[in-house]
Amino acid sequence: MERGKFIVFEGIDGSGKSTQINLLAEALKKRSISCRTTLEPTFGMVGSVLHDILSGKMSADPKVVASLFVADRLDHILNQTDGVLKSVENGETVICDRYYFSSYAYQSVEVPRDWVVSANRMAAETLRPDATIFIDISAETAMNRISKNRENTELYETKERLSAVREGYFSAFELMKDEERIFVVDGNRSIDEIAEEIQKIVFEKIC
Ligand code: ADP
Ligand code: TYD
Repeated sequence: MERGKFIVFEGIDGSGKSTQINLLAEALKKRSISCRTTLEPTFGMVGSVLHDILSGKMSADPKVVASLFVADRLDHILNQTDGVLKSVENGETVICDRYYFSSYAYQSVEVPRDWVVSANRMAAETLRPDATIFIDISAETAMNRISKNRENTELYETKERLSAVREGYFSAFELMKDEERIFVVDGNRSIDEIAEEIQKIVFEKIC
């Protein structure tokens, strides 16, 4: 059985990840490639606590939050019910909204990046993405989109924070350019133009 691909989307909040994930999933299905979509933080036992922290219902030290993201990620890939690793091994392509680069970018604003990277090593060694697609928009565009679409903002959704997170992504991409397949896509275009570029990357270089 041929292994499925593991394709990760990254970007600051509001960058258009879920929009593009749905379009890519449709395009894969049209080509009869079996696929499913998933996301982090999950809605499993650890992920649910993270959603409460992000919405402000609970609070925790940034080091604890960073550890919870690691635990949620391992549960996401390894759990016996719908773990991503098993799906990929069974030939299904999985498209995931956020993975460890989100931790490198978001948690490293407050927790040393070396620690975040080593805490995620088990996930990286267990399941490395075949491609990480980063949709790049400015923190300003992100805040405009978020305030237009939602009544409440989440923990990291300020312009200053998202700007630091965007820098954190680029710095992590530079650090890991030899071991990861990273594709940066300009997110300041129409939904269709971005989708076309992503499909070109996926069908010519990944699938
Ligand atoms: P994310 O999953 O990264 O948070 P979404 O796909 O939910 O992003 O998009 C955030 C908002 O921006 C949504 O209202 C969506 O319709 C809109 N949006 C997505 N892509 C674009 C684009 N290329 N141009 C303008 N608006 C967009
Ligand atoms: P979500 O509501 O899913 O936002 P989005 O649609 O923008 O992805 O919230 C996810 C939030 O969690 C987002 O602000 C990024 C943050 N996050 C981390 O800080 N570290 C991580 O490892 C992950 C997976 C997410």
